[in-house]
Amino acid sequence: MKRDTGTVAAVKARANIAEIVGRYVNLRPVGGRLVGPCPFHQETKGSFNVHPDKGFFHCFGCQASGDVIDFYCRINGLEFREGLERLAAEVGVDVGQARRDPRAARQRQERDACLAMHELADRYFRHVLGTPAGEAARDYLARRKVSPEMIEAFSLGVSPDGWQGLSDVLRSRGFSEDMGVLAGLLSAGRNGRVWDRFRDRLMFPIRDGGGRVIAFGGRTMGDGEPKYLNSAETPIYTKGQHLYGLYEARPHMAKSRRALLTEGYLDVITLHQFGYGDACGVLGTALTPEQAKRLSGFASRVDLVFDGDPPGRKAALRSAQMFLSLGGGCRVVPLPDGEDVDSLLHAAGRDGFEECLAKAEDGLTFCLRVVRGTFSPKEIAAWAVEFLNGLGDAALRAVFIPRVSSGLGLAERELRQSLGEAEDRGRRQPAAAPPRRQRSLDIAPRDAELLAFAIRRADYRAALAEAGAEAALSGDAAREFFDKLVGEVADELESRLDTAQSAFWAKALLEPVEGDEQAAAVFEEICIFLRQSREGDRRRVLTEAIRRAQEQGEHMQALRLLGELQALSGRGDE
Ligand code: UTP
Ligand code: MN
Repeated sequence: MKRDTGTVAAVKARANIAEIVGRYVNLRPVGGRLVGPCPFHQETKGSFNVHPDKGFFHCFGCQASGDVIDFYCRINGLEFREGLERLAAEVGVDVGQARRDPRAARQRQERDACLAMHELADRYFRHVLGTPAGEAARDYLARRKVSPEMIEAFSLGVSPDGWQGLSDVLRSRGFSEDMGVLAGLLSAGRNGRVWDRFRDRLMFPIRDGGGRVIAFGGRTMGDGEPKYLNSAETPIYTKGQHLYGLYEARPHMAKSRRALLTEGYLDVITLHQFGYGDACGVLGTALTPEQAKRLSGFASRVDLVFDGDPPGRKAALRSAQMFLSLGGGCRVVPLPDGEDVDSLLHAAGRDGFEECLAKAEDGLTFCLRVVRGTFSPKEIAAWAVEFLNGLGDAALRAVFIPRVSSGLGLAERELRQSLGEAEDRGRRQPAAAPPRRQRSLDIAPRDAELLAFAIRRADYRAALAEAGAEAALSGDAAREFFDKLVGEVADELESRLDTAQSAFWAKALLEPVEGDEQAAAVFEEICIFLRQSREGDRRRVLTEAIRRAQEQGEHMQALRLLGELQALSGRGDE
């Protein structure tokens, strides 16, 4: 999706980040910024900083950072484009591009029509539940012990046997059948109309991050097959993107900092009914990376509540692996054989479920136990390599390698070797993943120190450049940033930073600015470090040249180089 820079700038100018963050976070002013507990990870102290004047936020605890649009998207679980458009509408910015681009305009129209139709359908299904045609469904819900509050909260409804009703309602509201998507929706399905698929089913609306109904799940109330039916994909619903109950659970997750993840519609509802408002569920598919990412944005810890049978265990293994590789906490809650959460809660109440929660196992421990217990030796090794190489973060890998090797009985050295080999193979293949919107800079701690100093003490930037700081920085992102610091006119610099750089900039300025004496000392330290790393480089070059000279029998050359190397040594840091 092309970035609409005009709209982005207009929205950022119009939206008050303090006000928008303040809806979700209890902020108090500290200096020129606002501080509070981070809504994106579990904490009680205030690591979350908002800079109203600079227009962005940053969390020291979980490194979340970005501008007001990023915040809005993340807290609402929206993709960038959708979040931008909704925030634009909220603050009165005209998203002009959509109107100029006829294809985008048409897509938008289709989405709006789809949303309107789903809203209408939702109201209609709910309405039917209260009429004589809804009697069987009301009986069914009573049998399943779903409380009236939950029927209301999850706006359950019923699609009557005479589905013609909805078609008529839709047509009478001006959704003519020849209208693009709507025509497709209405003409798909067995008897020529999409809603017919749901005939005589209990209806569970599925909502997006903003609470709008975008799809339905329908359950038979008899022996019909399949037991559950889910909406097909539409312009507003993509399978594997949404979680059932997430919209309802989000405010609870913000408080508990935890998410309960389960597999069934009714399981989610029953959890809420018994006071576990932070529960949501996957929708008839295995957990997808998109869902995992979305959920990780809301809760720093996910408790997986899957069936205890082999398929449930397999699903829990894959899901736990996914959350762990995103760097989030995760636990696996065991359920008694043959029970799901819904049946357990109705049979044993909160106490029964609390007993299970108390037995929850740390996600990695669970993975290692299942893998060791059910995989062949070859599969165990392959799993370890796949799991560790799938970790996005090198630091995470460093933490997990010893635990994985000892937990699976693999020699750490050999494991590290196989990791390297698999990675090399991976590198030769073209990157499969599309570039993501960068949220935080990938900067090594050493580089970060130098950059932060350069940010705080602008007067040292030229001297740092002179001393060769740029060449000594180890990462591309750091070098690019340093380039900007020394290359831009001071007044324009801040406006030229991208979001991630701005966040880094603000973070650097949260540390006290070094006084003159201290700054001189830091600069001196940096110079020593730069000299050493230059010498280190030189030593590596010399060592390599000596090796080559000896290989080729050029002994005189080798001796000369050795002399040079010895002259360097004694001053170096190695
Ligand atoms: P289950 O078959 O375990 O049913 O499916 P359940 O959730 O316990 O349902 P109840 O209690 O009998 O009403 C678990 C979940 O898998 C999806 C649904 O999301 C369901 O809640 N599913 C199941 C489908 O999407 N289609 C199916 O045919 C079956
Ligand atoms: Mn069930």
